[in-house]
Amino acid sequence: MNKKFFPDSTRSLQPIPYGRQSTDEEDVAAGCSVLRSDWLTTGPKVSEFEEAFAEYVEAKYAVAVSSGTAALHCAMYALGISPVDEVIVPTMTFAATANCVVFQGGTPVFADVTRDTLLIDPDKAELKVGDRTKAVIAVDYAGQPCEYRSLQRGTDWHLWRTDG
Ligand SMILES: Cc1ncc(COP(=O)(O)O)c(C=O)c1O
Repeated sequence: MNKKFFPDSTRSLQPIPYGRQSTDEEDVAAGCSVLRSDWLTTGPKVSEFEEAFAEYVEAKYAVAVSSGTAALHCAMYALGISPVDEVIVPTMTFAATANCVVFQGGTPVFADVTRDTLLIDPDKAELKVGDRTKAVIAVDYAGQPCEYRSLQRGTDWHLWRTDG
């Protein structure tokens, strides 16, 4: 636990590495087989991945995009976020969380995070709800799940979950 950043925290948090991915030989071979094929972009592997992912998350469809930012933009488009809308976002996150709202002409409204987890604080988020609030983007910062039940309490907004 880094006392410099969490001086008053009484919780013992195990740091989760932000950017340490696992890539094995099977992954490398799969990548190489695509690079050696005729299709680099919208080839058969993309629809294979979309179908496998949809099955895994028990959804009817899945759409693969090129980045997390593009996925967030798609989500805001799908929700119909427009210039009249506000979307509540956490203060501690990657820029794309707020930018995807701006891409649609909407206004991101920042709600503070809790000191010990750095996740969006449901009480602070509730204080930011107004007539123009259309959604909340909750970021599972460093792999910790947000308090989804509290965030949804008494509201009919869209709750969008992202992993950060
Ligand atoms: C929480 C969060 N959302 C979105 C993104 C954007 O993802 P990408 O860099 O793939 O566009 C990141 C990237 O670090 C992120 O941490």
